[in-house]
Amino acid sequence: MAAVLPYTDDNIDLAAAALLRGTVVAFATETVYGLGADTFNESAIAKIYELKQRPSTNPLIAHVIDLPTAKRVSTGWSRRSMKLVSACWPGPLTLILPRNPAVPRTAAGGRETIAVRSPGHPLARSLLYAFGGPISAPSANRSGGVSPTTAQHVASDYREHTDLMVLDGGPCMLGIESTVVDLTESKPVVRRLGVVTIEQLSALLGPIEVDMPSEQTASPGSAVRHYAPSVPSILVSREQLASVLATGSPAAVVCLAGTQVGEGHIRLEMPSDADGYAAHLYETLRRADAAGCERIVIELPSQRTGVWSAIIDRLRRATSA
Ligand code: TXA
Ligand code: MG
Repeated sequence: MAAVLPYTDDNIDLAAAALLRGTVVAFATETVYGLGADTFNESAIAKIYELKQRPSTNPLIAHVIDLPTAKRVSTGWSRRSMKLVSACWPGPLTLILPRNPAVPRTAAGGRETIAVRSPGHPLARSLLYAFGGPISAPSANRSGGVSPTTAQHVASDYREHTDLMVLDGGPCMLGIESTVVDLTESKPVVRRLGVVTIEQLSALLGPIEVDMPSEQTASPGSAVRHYAPSVPSILVSREQLASVLATGSPAAVVCLAGTQVGEGHIRLEMPSDADGYAAHLYETLRRADAAGCERIVIELPSQRTGVWSAIIDRLRRATSA
């Protein structure tokens, strides 16, 4: 099992020293746990790709403590990017900007652009502060799997990596990954939905385009099947649920308050508010996966605005063939 370390000053110093030596360290952020390494150390970056079994063309997010550090990794800062940063950092918003040539190309999946985010979680911030530079970190799941929202999730995903340090910041408060906005085109484009909503972004920037590529193109991590449990999973409307459950084997059912699932199935009830649903989504998908059923059936929430749009996006990818 990977080593789960409580959030203490000593453990932050230990982890910062490990990052300086080129080791990979897992740590809490407010969205999901990340698997971090020194952005400027190519061999450390290579270890992330290897651990996660991530295709080398899928770029990483550089996590930064502040704007000066963001400028060490990216260029092309404009009024538009400053506006977003003033409103949303530290927090769950990632910007795609031209890559500063000082950053190894491999830290950006071979691209001329780079994703940058300043996380709000106190543990992530303490680690960035102690390390003193940018930390590249994808979500700490194996490529394509369900993202981790607790230190125990990470430890179980990497159970054979006994030397992996996991800094435990408790369950992630937000529970789904950051919103990704691409600022390298003439107009800003949302590449991944998240807790910073389209409504918030349009209030800051005006009408904003959403283009989440389904193939390994502009944002390779947006491959259609993603965040997926290993047990076959389907997404059904409340109306379809009873008939889907009436036939076939016992299911782990992820449902909303008030929905009955009948005898023989395992019922996993989700909070009715979007923030609560997001915070529990991945943890519930992992419990559904471990429930011992041959299938997972998820009730499709009916709301579509705000954070719900990011939740529906994750549910569709988690259940896509
Ligand atoms: O909330 C988060 O963003 C978490 C925590 C750990 O910070 N990190 C995270 O990283 O979700 P990851 O690697 O799992 O997802 C990053 C997404 C991927 O879809 C990736 O393809 C996209 O951002 N991305 C990163 N750099 C990019 C770039 N230069 N151009 C286009 N897309 C990029
Ligand atoms: Mg990810």
